[in-house]
This record gives sequence, structure tokens and C-alpha cells, in this order.
Amino acid sequence: MSRSASTNSYFAIVSGENAELARVEIETLLQMVDSKYEVSWYERVAIIEGLQNPTDFLLQRAALLKEAGTIIFETDSLDGAAREIPDDLLISNVGSNETFSIRTKSFLHSRKPEARRSIVVELGDKIQRATAARVQLENPDIRVLVLVMSDRILVCMSKESQLRGQLRRRKPGMKPFFHPSMMNALLARTMCNLARVMPNETVLDPFCGGGGILCEIAHIGARPIGLELSWRFLKGASKNLAGIQYSDYSLIQGDARCSPIRNCHHVVTDPPYGRASSTRGEKAVRLVAALFENAEEIILHGGSMCTCHSSDMGVPEVIRQLGFEIEYQIRFRVHSGLVREVITVNL
Ligand SMILES: C[S@@+](CC[C@H](N)C(=O)[O-])C[C@H]1O[C@@H](n2cnc3c(N)ncnc32)[C@H](O)[C@@H]1O
Repeated sequence: MSRSASTNSYFAIVSGENAELARVEIETLLQMVDSKYEVSWYERVAIIEGLQNPTDFLLQRAALLKEAGTIIFETDSLDGAAREIPDDLLISNVGSNETFSIRTKSFLHSRKPEARRSIVVELGDKIQRATAARVQLENPDIRVLVLVMSDRILVCMSKESQLRGQLRRRKPGMKPFFHPSMMNALLARTMCNLARVMPNETVLDPFCGGGGILCEIAHIGARPIGLELSWRFLKGASKNLAGIQYSDYSLIQGDARCSPIRNCHHVVTDPPYGRASSTRGEKAVRLVAALFENAEEIILHGGSMCTCHSSDMGVPEVIRQLGFEIEYQIRFRVHSGLVREVITVNL
């Protein structure tokens, strides 16, 4: 069986460092584009069917996405796959003045190196003959990716994530103000995505510290508000926001247990749990409980809260006792002594 994939088939490959968080991030971002996408997962590959191409939005937003694009052709065997692809399909995807590269990615136990090498050579020849485009391995205009799966072969037009490199360069140690309690940009971005933050919305971090999360809110184009007990951290957050030339923010000295902020679209935060950052004598879980007790005043109806904390704090139990329903609860190991948990709640 082979077919030109409908123009509405897409793929996304996520990184392996935290597969569950990565899947939830992609699925949440897809819902933000259109609630009707059908998504099936094949290890770290999402196959997405839907009316609108979501891949530019995913590449712009998803922290844990490696590459994404359009599936142009599907067949069930590597042998002869290149011959089956119609020339007009190649002509409509690769311009005559463009350069291209071809890669394969196998999800089989036996990785079939010979057959994969053959399809690269055969498909490369065919594209050159059909379109007059040139092979270029470094920075090609078009990246063709052949996904080799146990039940099918997918020929795709792929774009690599530029965001992942940018997020790595935005790590806390590279910011003008640094403290070990600051959240890294990859996790801060993922949390903003799980909270469904959109440009121009107002987003509060009530334990804002040096502003790791605030900076990521700003990069999305939303308006960050930081609340923090310590003046030293507030000054640090202000330096960090200035460092990314962002001025549309508010920083307020205050206690998250009685937040004066009202009517935000979302809260994205990581409360202290007494390791890298102090709880100032309060039980860590009480800080989170106080925040949820006031959530309906702080967050507009239809908004959301995404928090990250140590998994041994017992936060989910407290949140449920307060009558909130948890949408996602995802655990991941930071090191042998610390398992963190990300939780999202919709208001
Ligand atoms: C884990 S750090 C926050 C890191 C920050 N979200 C970031 O992205 O860089 C927790 C912060 O909460 C602050 N804090 C502790 N108790 C607080 C309270 N009751 N109200 C507001 N801030 C508090 C601490 O001073 C610390 O800076």
C-alpha cells in the first residue's frame, strides 16, 4: 500500500529527556490551535491529522520539540519506496532553485542500514531529476526526512527546532543576575505552554525570584507580573527582564500567601521548597495551599495555574482537598534526591 499523504498529515518528534512532559506539551499546544486534531504517538513521534498546519506554531513554542513538518507520502515498505513517490509530489514540495538533504530515522529493532542507505541514494537521485534541486548537507533549504516505522514508511518535509538552542542559551547562568534557585528556560517555557499562555495575556509568578519564569513569559509576548518577598531577588528579576529588552512587566514586593494581584489570565510558578530557596519558615506546602485558596480572585475564569514543586510536598492532595481538579500531574527525576512534579489546574 502506498499513498500521497493527504495535505493534512503532520509529524512532530520530541526529545527523550522527559517523554511524558513532551507529549503533554505538544498535545496542549495542538489544542490551542484547534481542538479537533487527531494525534497518535509512535514512541517519540506524534502523527497529527487535522485541517490546519500546526507545525510552525509548534516549532515557535514547544520547548521539548526537536523537529516537525508535513508528511507528504506514506508507504509500507522501504524497498522501492523512492520509485513509488510521484514526480509531481516532489515538484510541489522542492523548488528548482532550492537545496535539499535527506535523512532517515528508524524506529525498528533491526535498523536496516542497507535499505536506509538505498532510499537516501534513490530518493536523492529522483528529487534531482524531477526538480533540478541540488543536494546540500549543511543548512539546506529543504530537509527531507524518511521515518522508518514497523508498519509504515513516512516521507516528510521537516524543519528543525531553532527554539531549543535559544532556550539552552537562555539558561540561568547566562543571565545578568543569577541564583541557583532560578528556573531554567526549557522547563519555564514548557510550563507556560501547559498553562496555555498566549501573547498579550497577563501571567503572574507569585514566587518570582530572579525571574527565570518571568523572562520566558516575556519571550512568548505575554505580560509578566512578578511577586516576591525579597528585594534582592526583585532587583535581580528587573535586571534579567532588562537584559532581554523587555519593559512591559510589573514587579511587586509582597507575600504570595496574600497576593494583591487580581484578574490574571494565568499563574505559572515554582514555590520554594527549602532547598535552593527559602520558605522563610513556612511549611512549603502551605505556601502552595494559600495560593490555591485565593486562586479564584487571582486568576480570571477560564485561566489556569501551572506549578512545579518537589513531589514529596503532597501538593496534589492539598489541591484536591480545596476542590480543584488536576488536569496534568507529571513527575520527573532531577537527581537521585529530588523528584519534581508539574501540575496544571484550569479555573
Ligand atoms: C524557587 S524560587 C523561584 C524561582 C523563580 N520562579 C524563577 O523562575 O527564577 C522561590 C522564591 O520564592 C520566594 N518566596 C519565599 N516565600 C515567599 C512568599 N511567601 N511570598 C513570595 N515569595 C516568596 C523566595 O525568596 C524565592 O525567591
